[in-house]
Amino acid sequence: MFEHLPHEVSIYEVSPRDGLQNERATVPLRGKLRLIEALTTAGLKRVEITSFVSPKWIPQLADADDVAAEVAAWPPREGVVYSALCPNPRGLERAKAAGIREIAVFLSASETHNRKNVNKSVAETLDAFEDTIAPAIAAGMRVRGYVSTVWGCPYEGEIAPASGVTIAARLVEMGCYQISLGDTIGCGTPAQTQNIVQLMLREIPAHKLALHMHDTRGTALANIVVGLELGVRDFDASVGGLGGCPYAPGAAGNVATEDLVYMLHGMGVSTGVDLERLVEAGKAAESVVARPLPGKVHQAGVRSLRA
Ligand code: HMG
Ligand code: MG
Repeated sequence: MFEHLPHEVSIYEVSPRDGLQNERATVPLRGKLRLIEALTTAGLKRVEITSFVSPKWIPQLADADDVAAEVAAWPPREGVVYSALCPNPRGLERAKAAGIREIAVFLSASETHNRKNVNKSVAETLDAFEDTIAPAIAAGMRVRGYVSTVWGCPYEGEIAPASGVTIAARLVEMGCYQISLGDTIGCGTPAQTQNIVQLMLREIPAHKLALHMHDTRGTALANIVVGLELGVRDFDASVGGLGGCPYAPGAAGNVATEDLVYMLHGMGVSTGVDLERLVEAGKAAESVVARPLPGKVHQAGVRSLRA
């Protein structure tokens, strides 16, 4: 066991987007900026700061243009990349105008979730991405791709892994540098994760895969350990466990970044993140959303039993 652990992994922080999109109350601009600042102060280098989707669909992130423009005006932090979700050419134009250098396109492995989330079939969504991904790359941006509901759909239940594999492979073909596989409703278990990741690896090299595990049923870290053993080196996380998906009823937040970092550091895998500062970022997140957050390390603290 644990024969293939890496020295280092990369964490892609999604709390300002995946987290805040699901808050009942819209967090004011200054709260969003405070959270993003706290995250990069903790050493996170990849932060998805907002979403250039329709403000009618996600009113919580209607200030995306302002968030991104404010962040673009900050003094640059070495190695930090701010990215944003982007569904279509309109989103791309907004992202460019706000100084974003990396976008993430997204769709689902299940038809029903995809239609509820972006109002198109899976095939129509993929075809329409031709007008977003290639122009973004031509403009010098990097494009990440999300495939949601790979482990299960809130409307259709179990999803054949082959659907996710076909979509992920097409996104790679279209130029996405990395595909983030979403357990959108946090239903996955480790043997299922092994099966899904092994099938993906037949088509896509490990360095182009990331895992985006929501922790609805407490299985996110177990699934991540399986991914680690199979060679995945990129994991999405959300400070304090903030988040969900408004078009996936019952979805809770992503795996808490503090829990992921605590586990990885304990296993000798470095992340470049300062855990104490990350805990401070979690407290900032809690104060920004004004409700208790569910992350375990966030609640228990980092004190080791050996102390
Ligand atoms: P639509 O209504 O089919 O779009 O929505 P449309 O092209 O027909 O346009 C309708 C109106 O929206 C027009 O305005 C457009 O200009 C406007 P109107 O003429 O009515 O005034 N519009 C836009 N406005 C601003 N920015 C844009 C934009 N595009 C169109 N980019 C659309 C289609 C995709 C826009 C919509 O369905 C949408 O925004 N969906 C987003 C849903 C979403 O953000 N869900 C959460 C993120 S996904 C997630 O959380 C999962 C993930 O975390 C991974 C995982 O957990 O698995 C990523
Ligand atoms: Mg998500």
